[in-house]
Amino acid sequence: MSAGVHTVAVIGAGKIGELMLSGLLRSGWPVERLLATARRPARAEELTARYGVRVVDNLTAVDEAAVLAVSVKPQDAAALLDDIGPKVPADKLVISLCAGLPTSFFNRRLPEGTPVVRVMTNTPALVDQAMTAISAGAYATGEHLALAEEMFKPLGQTIRVPESQQDAVTALSGSGPAYFYLLVEAMIDAGILLGLPRQVAHELIVQTAIGSAVMLRDSGEHPVKLREAVTSPAGTTISAIRELEKHGVRAALLAALEAARDRARELAAQAD
Ligand SMILES: NC(=O)c1ccc[n+]([C@@H]2O[C@H](COP(=O)([O-])OP(=O)(O)OC[C@H]3O[C@@H](n4cnc5c(N)ncnc54)[C@H](OP(=O)(O)O)[C@@H]3O)[C@@H](O)[C@H]2O)c1
Repeated sequence: MSAGVHTVAVIGAGKIGELMLSGLLRSGWPVERLLATARRPARAEELTARYGVRVVDNLTAVDEAAVLAVSVKPQDAAALLDDIGPKVPADKLVISLCAGLPTSFFNRRLPEGTPVVRVMTNTPALVDQAMTAISAGAYATGEHLALAEEMFKPLGQTIRVPESQQDAVTALSGSGPAYFYLLVEAMIDAGILLGLPRQVAHELIVQTAIGSAVMLRDSGEHPVKLREAVTSPAGTTISAIRELEKHGVRAALLAALEAARDRARELAAQAD
């Protein structure tokens, strides 16, 4: 199996499914090798108008595509698989983008031996800066993982992880963009508290976030080192850091990510 040769169907093309469609198109995947499915006719029309992609029903997608990328909400997955599961030939590759759902959830509802790859990407895929973690289910081979990687590489970075780590990945990088946006939002508010116009505070913090992120990525330095370089003795930064520690920001992050991981497990239990 190699990229661009097989037909990929995005089953349940909502936010994440659209992001995958648009990324594949940007990377040069031929539109005639893409299919999408949607529950509402208005959504189907929107996808065709925006991308020229053919929107079909789920069973046609199963019939025509070699790769089925399932991107429905976890709570909709069982109903979807009740419909299409028995009709999926075992030589198709199923890629799940659903948070929390283990590949065994799919394998229980698909013919014996169907390869399933579990993928957790994130919304910066929209600007080709996604972090995508990929895991093999019981019947997925190296070739299947490589194909999934080829599909997600144009959207940003990819990493292979054991499936047992996927709920943690979901908590860290799947939901991760939301934590950074919350932080930026709070810092803009802080700028306003200090008397800066909103637009100025916004520009200052967004560029500071981008600069810090690029340094983290490109310098190869540990974040502690980078933080220490900004933290001079008896300076302004350490005064701020004392307050962050006093208010338990570090502990809040540990608890928050644990809650996200637990929620991923809960969603999987509810979907079953
Ligand atoms: N959003 C994120 O940042 C993010 C990040 C990582 C992973 N994920 C995962 O990606 C998956 C999708 O999330 P999302 O935010 O993209 O949700 P979403 O926007 O609601 O997309 C899901 C789409 O699937 C459609 N659908 C549901 N059942 C269907 C069926 N039987 N046949 C055809 N279409 C069907 C829905 O139709 P309706 O419009 O009618 O509901 C909706 O358009 C979730 O499992 C989530 O855990 C999301």
